[in-house]
Amino acid sequence: MTNKKGRVFSGARPTGRQHLGNYLGAIRNYVALQEDYDCVYCIVDLHALTTMEDFGKLRENTSEMALDWLAAGIRPEESIVFVQSHVPQVTELHTILSMFTPLGKLTDLPTFKEKARMQPHNINYGLVGYPVLMAADITLYKADVVPVGIDQESHLEFTREVVRSFNFRVGKQVLVEPQMKTTTYPKVLGTDGAQKMSKSLNNHIELALTDEETVARVMTMVTDPQRTHRNIPGRPEVCNVFTLHHSFTSEAEVEQIAADCRSAKLGCVDDKKCLAANINRHLAAFRQKRTELAKNPEYVWDVLSDGARRANTIADQTMDEVRKAIGLP
Ligand code: TRP
Repeated sequence: MTNKKGRVFSGARPTGRQHLGNYLGAIRNYVALQEDYDCVYCIVDLHALTTMEDFGKLRENTSEMALDWLAAGIRPEESIVFVQSHVPQVTELHTILSMFTPLGKLTDLPTFKEKARMQPHNINYGLVGYPVLMAADITLYKADVVPVGIDQESHLEFTREVVRSFNFRVGKQVLVEPQMKTTTYPKVLGTDGAQKMSKSLNNHIELALTDEETVARVMTMVTDPQRTHRNIPGRPEVCNVFTLHHSFTSEAEVEQIAADCRSAKLGCVDDKKCLAANINRHLAAFRQKRTELAKNPEYVWDVLSDGARRANTIADQTMDEVRKAIGLP
């Protein structure tokens, strides 16, 4: 451990190539946290199993996501980047923590109810235990800080509760109660301008697209629905193209765009061309690095196996303490 402020842990399900929503909402933040914390970033493949119908894509989705993380600036010499299932101690801790978890607390969680509603044909046991596995992730690595979106708040609160109840029952501060660090970035909407950007809704813009593909994708974006004709003035405040400009366009240019949209001097097509060009400029270095890294398909797996080795050292230590604390012979 270095002399940083503490340890950060975060996990994300392997969803393959990452999109602008992942980047603005999470990845950028992961990169920045490396300055102040020892960071552990985990691709949670076991969590992914709870909602997957087709397991065939797990491997590819894992390596594609890891490549995006690395190209975006997660530094594997410093931070630990690994795959959840490569350090199986987490499943043991999951089992142990489950004994400290009232069942009703899990079935009452809004996140569980939501998932049960989404897949009524597959309300599996793993789905109920999802937050327990997440608590095991966080506590196995003794994380002080967990950066997540606001949708994960109830899971973080659950983690804190299970830590308190474990430590109370064993009469020792064995597990660390983590702090939540909410990602403050506003929800990134998809090309439909209505729903959160997500691969499953196919309203996403992938980071690893070519410049031309980016332009084509941005052109499909829904703008102000009232602007049905080029000469009708637009309302930037309801336009998702405009919202994205805030992340990729200079402040002065954003102001100019707002004014020109309101006066109908600027049409939606030109506005989108401008956004696409700015996204491409912003991602140029990322894309170049990604292409470089992808030339050696072994590279990403080498990084992940080195990460697993380092994660394993921490996990072994925690599990020794946990097993001792609960008296496992
Ligand atoms: N539940 C998180 C999500 O759906 C993913 C996750 C799993 C996670 N384990 C974690 C996030 C530990 C933070 C810390 O996005």
